[in-house]
Amino acid sequence: MSEERTMPPVEPLVIRSLVRVEKTTANDRSIGAILIDAGRLTLEDAERILRKQKEDGLRFGEAAIKLGLLAEVDIQFALARQFDYPYLVPGESNVSGELVAAYQPFSRQVEALRALRSQLMLRWFNGNLDRRAISIVSTSRNEGRSYLAANLAIVFSQLGERTLLIDADLRNPRQHELFGLPNRAGLSQLVTARADETAIERVPTFMDFSVLTAGSVPPNPQELLSRSSFSNLLGSLVERYDVIILDTPAADQGADAQIVADRAGAALVVARQNHSYVGDLQDLSESLHHAATAIVGVVMNNF
Ligand SMILES: Nc1ncnc2c1ncn2[C@@H]1O[C@H](COP(=O)(O)OP(=O)(O)OP(=O)(O)O)[C@@H](O)[C@H]1O
Ligand SMILES: [Mg+2]
Repeated sequence: MSEERTMPPVEPLVIRSLVRVEKTTANDRSIGAILIDAGRLTLEDAERILRKQKEDGLRFGEAAIKLGLLAEVDIQFALARQFDYPYLVPGESNVSGELVAAYQPFSRQVEALRALRSQLMLRWFNGNLDRRAISIVSTSRNEGRSYLAANLAIVFSQLGERTLLIDADLRNPRQHELFGLPNRAGLSQLVTARADETAIERVPTFMDFSVLTAGSVPPNPQELLSRSSFSNLLGSLVERYDVIILDTPAADQGADAQIVADRAGAALVVARQNHSYVGDLQDLSESLHHAATAIVGVVMNNF
């Protein structure tokens, strides 16, 4: 039993905490080129912006906004492309609008997710094989586990980590919906040897990002997750991914979440403001503690 696996719960992390992200500086000329290529700017307008930029000593984006030719969102789009930072435009993708990390990477909420990512890098992910997976758990339904798991996985992939999101909620799976994936074969088939690892879908929209959907909902989810095939699967996946995030069912639905957290070695506990009960949270953290699962942090989800 390692020291880390028995450490007590740490200070809560507040998902809405305000963290400043350093503004990127960019080559202004290529911002114009990116926007022209994307059909968001005409060559004539780009020339007007360049003239204004020169006259007033402004940056390209500032001049464009002053002239009313571009909006802040266009500049962010171009910066995202320029820095190879996947960024989706509503209506151009079938992934859900709930994936704020993909659609609004510069919003305050996603800044908080990046702050959470940094905390997890410091407290858990250290490159060792036994520190590559983490489960997202909470006491009851509708507390935002799936939302957090998906968005957190995206911000990890934006950092260039080889990231895998596993939907280990075999009761009410949602990750396939969030990512617009078919969910024909998934975790339940893999654990029962009715599918192989080709069931893991690479999501090309993102940098190095894959999803293993839940697959068909089985009658015995807890029993499937207890099988050695599940831990063996995780054992082989940690060799290929830097970060594996596991979505789980609510802890009050059965022992599934505890089993998944145990196999992952770590749990990030989600509490929803004005929704989760302190007593339930204490029970959950005590049982994780008894099972020697590291509680890497507690996130207050406020929505
Ligand atoms: N931080 C947030 N900001 C805005 N909306 C959120 C946030 N977290 C969750 N939601 C929304 O709340 C709803 C429930 O979230 P989610 O499906 O992630 O919860 P869950 O805990 O996984 O629920 P379930 O018990 O059904 O698995 C979704 O519509 C989701 O978009
Ligand atoms: Mg869920």
